[in-house]
Amino acid sequence: MMAMNMSLNMIPVKKTPGDVQWFVHDRFGLFIHWGIYALPARHEWVKTRERIPEEKYDIYFKNFDPDLYDPEAWMDVAYRAGMRYVVVTTKHHDGFCLWDSALTDYKATNTPARRDLIKPLVEAARARNMRVGFYYSLIDWHHPDFVIDGIHPLRDHPDVEALNQKRNQERYAAYLHGQVEELLTRFGQVDIMWLDFSYPNRPGGGKGRADWQSEKLYSLIRRLQPNIILNDRMDLDEGWDLVTPEQLQPREWVTIKGERVVWEACQTFSGSWGYYRDEASWKSVDQLVRMLIDTVSKGGNLLLNVGPTARGEFDYRALERLNGIGEWMKWHSRSIYGCTQAPKDLVAPEDCRYTYNPETGRLYVHLFAWPFKHLHLDGLAGKVEYAQLLNDASEIQIDTSLQPGDKKGFVDRQTLTLVLPVQKPPVTVPVIELFMKK
Ligand code: GLC
Repeated sequence: MMAMNMSLNMIPVKKTPGDVQWFVHDRFGLFIHWGIYALPARHEWVKTRERIPEEKYDIYFKNFDPDLYDPEAWMDVAYRAGMRYVVVTTKHHDGFCLWDSALTDYKATNTPARRDLIKPLVEAARARNMRVGFYYSLIDWHHPDFVIDGIHPLRDHPDVEALNQKRNQERYAAYLHGQVEELLTRFGQVDIMWLDFSYPNRPGGGKGRADWQSEKLYSLIRRLQPNIILNDRMDLDEGWDLVTPEQLQPREWVTIKGERVVWEACQTFSGSWGYYRDEASWKSVDQLVRMLIDTVSKGGNLLLNVGPTARGEFDYRALERLNGIGEWMKWHSRSIYGCTQAPKDLVAPEDCRYTYNPETGRLYVHLFAWPFKHLHLDGLAGKVEYAQLLNDASEIQIDTSLQPGDKKGFVDRQTLTLVLPVQKPPVTVPVIELFMKK
């Protein structure tokens, strides 16, 4: 694969059981958190945060009527934003299922929605050649056998112990395995299984591998879909493909026990994952584009989340962000797809991020701030054949008066200096494409 630029030193990544090749190429996916928590519209954890009893939470189940749901439109928006895969919540912590599971009545088909909401989404994604992943919550605040623990809505109930006497976590685990089996047998090829989450050491009682019977679940998943990409949240030390830091940008390529791993930053627009009407902390298009670049510059993927409304739409703020990202991606996706961290020893200048495509041998400089006239790139003197702005393919000249051997003392022998236009190009983050000498 690394036929060109053998001289540029790429760093190895931990081998994965699943097929991650398409994944590390595509780099950018859409996360969807959708469920009946879209009605209260104040966080997908609302049931437990507000300790809402089952009978009261039921009002959302009774009134879930996404009359404007149009998965084709959703996938169009995502595709235009440059996303090439989608991970959707089939069930979140509140236990509500969006597909027509045979193992529960607590599902979309029994709400006014009256239909399986997952199937048409899967079809819409596939029609656009987008890969499909299923988020499935290991946690279940609806199932009567799920043992009440430190984050359960009933945690403060005066009779927790008595209630737990009647609950049987093993029976719940059987249900969970059964549901995962449905998801992996009813929808054709599933590209990602995204299980969420384990908290074995939580004060007040947590859950981990013994509660989910993770080893058994693991074998089931690999048997049903051998190439699937599995995330890292079922509390197993080995076997996962994907590490998933959420709501934070790691400082560098994520490592586990000193080894670089395949990783995916999962991020929100405004803080919560489910639709949150009143949240005011929306990130700007500019911040989100930088987030994507920053992630790829550290060898990761970005899974960016939208929480659709209870009527079944992406709200205006989400659309504005996704369209804005799409504007940037239209000209710059070449610095994202197939790209990764630059070879070691190459350090990007201040306010810049590098990404690198090992197949084409092109290095991309993303400028978070636009300097005046000169951009100095350490260690690249004599290594670049040609440079251009990515948005309009206009040449960026290499300043030969300041090249190796220069007597003026501005730059050292290893530094390549580019001559930039005074005006910043009219894009969120300008990118310079460097064609490396072969
Ligand atoms: C967390 C949260 C959850 C969200 C998820 C996404 O574990 O519990 O609401 O689905 O992370 O990463």
